[in-house]
Amino acid sequence: MKFPVRLDRLISQATDHSRKQVKYLLKDGYVTVNGEIERQAQRKVNQDDRVELMDEPIGEASARYFMLHKPQGFISATKDKEHLTVLEFIDEPRRENLSVAGRLDIDTTGLVLLTDDGQWLHQVISPKHQCEKAYRVETTKPLDQKAIAKLEQGVWLNNEKTRTAPAQIEVIDEYHYRIIITEGRYHQVKRMFAAVENHVESLHRERIAGIVLDSALAPGEYRALTQAEIESVGKLG
Ligand code: URA
Repeated sequence: MKFPVRLDRLISQATDHSRKQVKYLLKDGYVTVNGEIERQAQRKVNQDDRVELMDEPIGEASARYFMLHKPQGFISATKDKEHLTVLEFIDEPRRENLSVAGRLDIDTTGLVLLTDDGQWLHQVISPKHQCEKAYRVETTKPLDQKAIAKLEQGVWLNNEKTRTAPAQIEVIDEYHYRIIITEGRYHQVKRMFAAVENHVESLHRERIAGIVLDSALAPGEYRALTQAEIESVGKLG
């Protein structure tokens, strides 16, 4: 967590209380900062401020990072009115504080990262950081050399002002390819293959930056990231 931080945010991250509940607790005088009752949710506090909720000290909740093997049929948002989300699989306290770092379509499978560390999330998804994403693609027909060259150089997608950034294509067999991209445009891989008159039959994300989907995870299973995996973001691109 980056300090200074808003008091309501600090408390809700460190406890099971929602931001709304924390606002009520503050209003009712249950929170003290350095021994004084504080009612302002937007009050900024620093690491050395002593925050207590009902006389219990609030420590900083340490950030959490998970990888999930997403099955088909779930959306990679944390809230949705119509569909089940990837949070269904996450059995952790305060799971609603987690965000998805890099969404997948409902029918795409594979690696999804979840975290409550906003800065880390930003590094994964911000176009500035050009974080690599590797996908295994099944196509309806083989790609010829010309199509591969086009995909590697960058293609124009409908309604976009710039060509896609250079990509890497590896041929697995006639109907299976690995594509490595550094952007995260809407339905990017499917639209790139459509731009070379092909069609994606199935799509599976294998890797984001230095984080490879753990082969021990069955669809729907998840685990915490290792320190090395967390730190790989921003190093490998
Ligand atoms: N590109 C797509 O088209 N879909 C995904 O889910 C991810 C990348």
